[in-house]
This record gives sequence, C-alpha cells and structure tokens, in this order.
Amino acid sequence: MKRVTVSAPGKLHLSGEHAVVHGKPALVVAVGKRLYVTLTQNPEPRTQNPIVNLKTKKDYLSTIIHLIEKKYQVSFTDFSLEITSDIPVGAGMGSSAALVVATIGALIIYLGKPWNPQEINELAFQAEKFQHGNASGSDPTVITHGGLLWYRKELEFLKTFWLLPFKIPKSFTPFVLVDTGRTESTKDLVVGVVGKKKTQNPGAFELLIAKIEQVTRTITQAIHDEKEVDFRKLVTINERLLEQLGVVSNSTQKFIRDIENSGGAAKISGAGGVKTGSGIVLAVHDDPQKLMALAKKYKHPSFQVTLGGEGVRREQVVV
Ligand code: MEV
Repeated sequence: MKRVTVSAPGKLHLSGEHAVVHGKPALVVAVGKRLYVTLTQNPEPRTQNPIVNLKTKKDYLSTIIHLIEKKYQVSFTDFSLEITSDIPVGAGMGSSAALVVATIGALIIYLGKPWNPQEINELAFQAEKFQHGNASGSDPTVITHGGLLWYRKELEFLKTFWLLPFKIPKSFTPFVLVDTGRTESTKDLVVGVVGKKKTQNPGAFELLIAKIEQVTRTITQAIHDEKEVDFRKLVTINERLLEQLGVVSNSTQKFIRDIENSGGAAKISGAGGVKTGSGIVLAVHDDPQKLMALAKKYKHPSFQVTLGGEGVRREQVVV
C-alpha cells in the first residue's frame, strides 16, 4: 500500500513582513517546529473527494489538490490525508504555508514525479495567492528551502532569494516566542489593513516601507557581524514601523512596551493582528525567564525554538 510522509518547517519573519508584499526585501528564517502530511492509498478506490481526517482548511486543501491535478493532468480519488503539526496555527509562523508545501511535496511523490523543491515552491506560491490575495511568496520559499533567507519579489514572475551563508549567532541570547493570539486572517491584514493604507496615502506608505527596507538591511548586517546590541535596537525600530503600518493591536503594543520597560526588545513576526492579539511576538532579553514570566502575566503561551531549520523533507516513502 502506497504511503508517503513529507514534512515542512514553520518560519519567522525577522524583518520585512508586509513590506515584502510591496517589493521590499524580507529576512526570514525556518524554525525547528514542523508539520507532517501523510498520504495513504486506500485499498478500495473511492469516488468521493479524497480528503478525510480534516476538520479545518478543507477548502484550502481542495485547492491544492486541484492545482496538482491540473498541473499534472491527473485525477486523485484514492488516498487519505493526515496532518500532524506543532506549528502554532494562525500565529504568523507559516502553518498554512507549511501545510501547502508539505501537501504538494507529498502529492508529487505520490504521483511518482521527480522531487523538485523549486517546483514545489512555485506551486505553493500559486496556492497561497489563492488563499490570501496578495502574497509575496516569502513564506513558501523559506519553508521549502529552510535556513536563513534574504527574499524579494521583484515582479509576479520574478522572485529572488539568497540563502545566507551564516546563522543567527550562538552568542545571541535565544529568542522567546510569545503567542498573543489573533482573530483576523492574513488576507484581512495584507489586503484590508495594509492595502487600504497604501491606497489612502501612497506617498507616506512608500516612505514607511523604505524605512522598513533599511531596517531589514541593517538587521541582516547586525546578525552577520554578531552585534546583538544593534540587533535589539533594530528589533524595536522594526516594531515601531509595523505599528505605524497598523498591524499591531493595542493590547500587543502594551505587552511589547512592558517587555521594553523590563530591558528587552520585541516585535511581531508575520502578518500581525489588530482586533485582539497580533500572533507571535519575537522577544529578546538578557534574562529570558523574565520574558516568560511577563508572558504568563498576560496569559500568553511562550516557548523557544531552534532557528535555521531544514526545509521541506521526505520523511517516509513506501511505494
Ligand atoms: C505573512 O507570513 C507575511 C506577510 O508579509 C505576507 C506575505 O509575505 O505574503 C504579511
């Protein structure tokens, strides 16, 4: 019986989220949390939709399956699909993109097609565009390729990335990730909040994303040069620019000010959120325990992750 398992990591935007949708660079990193997709051939071919075991994201998965059917001129009828994941959902850590990338990888193997990460990434980008309207492609790219990436979408058909030949320095105090929760979708934030801001005042918007680009550049330099003090200052500047973009809720701003007042630095990472929480907050402090205690006070889950994880990976193939 055919059985294929493919996994994909989550990600963090260290800088450049939202600006990357509008042609600016982003610095993104794959993390040590992963999502696993297993496709199992059913002994008895069924005629209904092959998706079982899925309580959420059903429409999204149908889109992915149809995309592959169209691309390879095939029709799937005979498999079950199971998902397990330890990537927080809807928090800006790429759980959706990991689902797309791993599912596409698994479907491609299932069909006996060659393993081609570039192709997986391109198909995942098409699916993501369907999901949130105006995607940059930075999520599927870092999730496919892993590591620490400098990414930029120049044009719809011209997306470039550079796998940086260095890591987040071991000398940096490990980041703490705090999940502040979120209610809006990425599409609401990318199209609704930020898209509107651009339409309302294009000049001011250009100025703001140019400042974000500058921060992305200098933050990359600080990581390269192992300058943690500079890195932390830039995290704070980055957070202020994201607040000006309008993607950080009042309650998350208050939480981040408390972190800053206790001697740390923090920023949202990913799409953010306005109504309640803002997804994952990436925080640094000389004493990570202080951050965790503060997160507890706000009743936000906190955790640590390894950075620079491997991209999409074949876990098990039984044919
Ligand atoms: C979402 O993880 C990152 C955004 O920049 C959207 C995108 O790049 O497509 C908000």
